[in-house]
Amino acid sequence: MVSEKWALAVLLLQLCCTGCGYCGKVLVWPCDMSHWLNVKTILEELTERGHEVTVLTPPYTNLIDYKKSSPLNFEVFHLPYDKESAENLNNKFLDLIFNVLPNLTPWQSAIKLKDYFAEITESLKIMCESVVYNQTLMKKLQESNYNVMIIEPVIPCGELVAELLAVPFVLTLRDSIGGMREKHCGKLPAPSSYVPVHMVGLTDRMTFMERVKNTMLSVFFDFWIQDYDTDIWDQFYSEALGRPTTLCETLGRAEIWLIRTYWDFEFPRPYLPNFEFVGGLHCKAAKTLPKKIEEFVQNSDGIVVFSLGTMIQNLTEEKANLIASALAQIPQKVLWRYKGKKPATLGANTQLYDWIPQNDLLGHPKTKAFLTHGGINGIYEAIYHGVPMVGIPMFGDQHDNIIHMKAKGVAVELNMNTMTSADLLSALRTVINDPSYKENAMKLSRIHHDQPVKPLDRAVFWIEFVMRHKGAKHLRPTAHNLTWFQYHSLDVIGFLLACAATAVFLVTKCFLFFCRKLDKTGNKKKRE
Ligand SMILES: *[C@@H]1O[C@H](CO)[C@@H](O)[C@H](O)[C@H]1NC(C)=O
Ligand SMILES: *[C@@H]1O[C@H](CO)[C@@H](O)[C@H](O)[C@H]1NC(C)=O
Ligand SMILES: *[C@@H]1O[C@H](CO)[C@@H](O)[C@H](O)[C@H]1NC(C)=O
Repeated sequence: MVSEKWALAVLLLQLCCTGCGYCGKVLVWPCDMSHWLNVKTILEELTERGHEVTVLTPPYTNLIDYKKSSPLNFEVFHLPYDKESAENLNNKFLDLIFNVLPNLTPWQSAIKLKDYFAEITESLKIMCESVVYNQTLMKKLQESNYNVMIIEPVIPCGELVAELLAVPFVLTLRDSIGGMREKHCGKLPAPSSYVPVHMVGLTDRMTFMERVKNTMLSVFFDFWIQDYDTDIWDQFYSEALGRPTTLCETLGRAEIWLIRTYWDFEFPRPYLPNFEFVGGLHCKAAKTLPKKIEEFVQNSDGIVVFSLGTMIQNLTEEKANLIASALAQIPQKVLWRYKGKKPATLGANTQLYDWIPQNDLLGHPKTKAFLTHGGINGIYEAIYHGVPMVGIPMFGDQHDNIIHMKAKGVAVELNMNTMTSADLLSALRTVINDPSYKENAMKLSRIHHDQPVKPLDRAVFWIEFVMRHKGAKHLRPTAHNLTWFQYHSLDVIGFLLACAATAVFLVTKCFLFFCRKLDKTGNKKKRE
């Protein structure tokens, strides 16, 4: 009897502990919106394995639903500004994207964006101050003894908190503007001859003129984009840490960079051992659809799934009508995630929804195409299920994502500001009726599924690795310790050139010396 109880206890103990050989404490600096949906997948997997996860979040959030019960803990910090100013900033961004930027020249819009970022930098700095200069909060975090921090570096500050708490950290991101954070702070090599600068619409196959453009943009990003707000952050980080440092240097201390892409999506390029490409980690097999949607889907000649993502809830009436009238002309049925006013031109084949089970719809055998803004989460769901796409990118990495899909023959790209109803109709017909799009999508899907270890497991493995070993310093390239001229071997080249110049100089001198001597002896002989 007693031994049975013991056996049970041992069994229970084993059950509790097999999930996790080493249970640790994880602190998270998240980014809201679709980024959060991606990171949440990792965090839920970590809690399932027995780790304790705490998310540091501001009080005003969109998708970070800290009020709902969840296996995650939330540490909501106090902010000195109200919800209204937080929302204003968000609305201003949407207004900029939709109403201001489309009417400007590229140069004017670059300046407008710069002004906008300068404005939000001030608010973001206040947010950072409310964390790192709140001693009660920092003391509480310090006492919690976290083993690792997971940081989404879209908004600075997470890495500063990690440095102040002396906790090793892992970054998780799709990319940064122009890929510059990875290149400069992470030391990821990016030869401009075949690695296109992110977000400028180039692929890895560039003509001579495109390589000129890529090289010039690379230099432009190196110098111009670097300093529109980094000065402010560099100073702030130096003050907070009490030693001269920069945002980039602090980011560069990351143990592992988890990048939200994989070789099904990326153009092959050099990478480093502390970069792990875990694109599609949130993807899952499709579940059965809600009954109403399933009925709609079943009574159709195939369906088109349409969503513009979590940021864009409504469009101008004109745009919505333009889109709806194109959708009305295809024989397939359309499920459109849309919260705005019902467009007058909406066809009988199109149904509007506040929310759609996007992954389950993309995994449905009747699905013919995905009409998308090109967010990386949606793109990966389409890759996972092998669905061709029509992309209408709007901002951030979306344009770049669609360029990748276009280059792989899986997508057609449209421009939201200039497209006509006929353009949209023709793009949809192309990806639905031209079989090469479906074939290429299936090829990417097979590549995606054929990996030795699934992306979510790899992401979790490296986070647990950092916890077990208190870092991953053995993967860190010494490039971080070199100055820029050492990195490019300019000092060595200079030295070798100097050597060569000296040698040439000496040889010439000797040559001239002997020539003259020969000359003299020759002259002597002649005189004799
Ligand atoms: C500092 O943080 C604590 C704990 O999170 C909070 O109660 C307090 O209001 C914060 N103080 C300020 C000035 O924001
Ligand atoms: C979306 O709708 C809100 C009101 O519901 C409106 O204020 C806003 O201008 C609309 N956005 C666009 C892009 O039309
Ligand atoms: C690089 O610099 C860091 C800190 O500045 C130091 O801890 C580390 O030992 C250095 N690594 C090498 C290989 O010199």
